[in-house]
Amino acid sequence: MEKFNEIYETAISWTKEAGKNIKESLSEQLRVEYKTSEADLVTEKDREIEEFFIRKIKERYPNHHIIGEEGMGEDTSFNPREEIVWLIDPIDGTTSFVHQKENFAISVAVYENGSPRVGIIYDPIREECYHALHGYGAFKNKERLKTVRETTVKHSLLGIDSSWLVPNDQYDYRKFHSLIQDIRGTRVIGSAALEMAAVASGKLNGFISLRLSPWDFAAGLVLLGELGVKATTIDNKPINLFEKTSICVGNQTFHRQLMQEYLGEEDKSK
Ligand code: IPD
Ligand code: CA
Ligand code: CA
Ligand code: CA
Repeated sequence: MEKFNEIYETAISWTKEAGKNIKESLSEQLRVEYKTSEADLVTEKDREIEEFFIRKIKERYPNHHIIGEEGMGEDTSFNPREEIVWLIDPIDGTTSFVHQKENFAISVAVYENGSPRVGIIYDPIREECYHALHGYGAFKNKERLKTVRETTVKHSLLGIDSSWLVPNDQYDYRKFHSLIQDIRGTRVIGSAALEMAAVASGKLNGFISLRLSPWDFAAGLVLLGELGVKATTIDNKPINLFEKTSICVGNQTFHRQLMQEYLGEEDKSK
């Protein structure tokens, strides 16, 4: 893991540098563009930060590969399961960034042959850096995070967005209704990375999302893997790191009860 120790330290320092850049630019006028719809935003900052990482990585680790949300990296003709790959979301929570100037994060992960090595989620506004090197535990700034607490549905707070309110083609949304009735509460931050970081630090007991991309959850999975959190798709299958997928993460007790009693999904994760 020594090789990754250096990559870990370097990635943290680049991420903080990028975060400082975003924070310092908050008072500037932002040019906002639409991607697939008026709800799908991108700003020049998203692109600038992704380019910053690509430049740094190519200079220092020319053999590594990069998958970034804004597609500023290289071609995708490599096999991510046989390489060292950086998965980067330069701003996760762009809508919050544009509207609220908070509740967004930089998400950076490094995987080797498909296995987790480094995960970093940085909230530059609160200056909170969640980070993990596989096998060495997870941290929030300098504080080592504890294995997450076991909770039942009745005593849990779940991160979930409003997609469960309406019919959708990913999942039978009605399955969520009894869950929402029984659970202690739900929260939406608007950044999947920060929602996963909140599970890591115990502020949430679980998080569900019906459709995320690899750069949204790659770093979160590294952190949660260090803390005893169960992570599957919403139909209780293993997560495919390199595809768009649903995500359901939570402590073992909560995840089991959610799957068995509410979603009716047996464990297909092994
Ligand atoms: C989005 C955020 C959001 C989630 C969306 C993502 P972006 O990422 O993580 O919380 O609900 O599915 O696309 O586009 O702001 O990087
Ligand atoms: Ca986006
Ligand atoms: Ca994202
Ligand atoms: Ca993004």
